[in-house]
Amino acid sequence: MTKSFWHQIKKPILALAPMAGYTDSAFRLLCRESGADVVYSEMISVDGLCHTNQKTLDMLKFRPQETPIVFQLFGTDPKKFATATTIINKIITSYKLPITSYFGIDLNFGCPAPKVAKNGAGAALMNELEKSHQIIKAVCDHSQFPVSLKIRAGVKNVTAFDFINKVKDLPWTAVMVHGRTLKQGFVGDIDCQIIKEIKKLIPDKIVLANGGINNLVTTQKILSKTNADGLGLARGVIGSPWLFKEIKQNKSLTISATARRKVILRQAELFLEDNPNLIPLRKHLVHYFKGQKNASEMRQKIIQVTAFTELKNIL
Ligand SMILES: Cc1cc2nc3c(=O)[nH]c(=O)nc-3n(C[C@H](O)[C@H](O)[C@H](O)COP(=O)(O)O)c2cc1C
Repeated sequence: MTKSFWHQIKKPILALAPMAGYTDSAFRLLCRESGADVVYSEMISVDGLCHTNQKTLDMLKFRPQETPIVFQLFGTDPKKFATATTIINKIITSYKLPITSYFGIDLNFGCPAPKVAKNGAGAALMNELEKSHQIIKAVCDHSQFPVSLKIRAGVKNVTAFDFINKVKDLPWTAVMVHGRTLKQGFVGDIDCQIIKEIKKLIPDKIVLANGGINNLVTTQKILSKTNADGLGLARGVIGSPWLFKEIKQNKSLTISATARRKVILRQAELFLEDNPNLIPLRKHLVHYFKGQKNASEMRQKIIQVTAFTELKNIL
């Protein structure tokens, strides 16, 4: 296995985990500026890429400053995964970036969303070991970039350990383990033991623990219980991207109202470079006031905001 950008990042590696509807280019860059080492895209349909669907192709747009960036794919057909990988190779190469701009391709084996799972993709695929093996092989065979996997602690009949044991011979580089089973959904403690066992099984590959990492104390606990090389942060950084910095510096930060305002405006400014108004960003913005004294008053205002000046005036 050739050494990848993953192996060059100082541990613990802090990743922005993939979140459909949230990890767009603006938020990814904001998270990189806030201390994330690597950022994941939203999940991207291989069928959409193969049909050159413009909306799907647009999901591959990025700003060079975001790199290292990992584009996450979902689908079911190994051949389509191979084609989608070739498309990504071409698009990234067309940016003509320096070789120090790093990319990765990630494969989604953890998504429980009905629109994904009903077609046998995402978490449903984790049950199908042979097919999963074929998909990972197809992508590894075609990708110019390191390949990573995103899995759950377990699905119906297959544990994360069984899954990794089945596919560990392939030359993928990293895995993010959402330490909750499919049955647990998005609540409850993560299974640190299974992540620890996976790390022992694949000592040369990168293992990231994911699930419920919302503060500094949890971070330290999970790192020591799992022996993981790093962490994937998802809901914990929506409205609190500075959590990356806190973990990096290993100390709690007091975020002043001015600092919060600066971060919010930065995200809005980036978002407006790609979108006509702030309406789709409202779902992010309301999170910045969670737990604040004026949360409900701010929420009322935020859910009506459309333009940058309006946002500035209410902050
Ligand atoms: C709104 C939302 C969208 C998500 N979209 C994806 C996705 O596109 N691909 C994926 O692998 N996981 C996705 N996830 C799962 C997260 O990456 C992560 O595994 C999960 O939220 C657990 O981490 P957390 O407890 O820190 O939020 C999503 C989660 C949420 C809340």
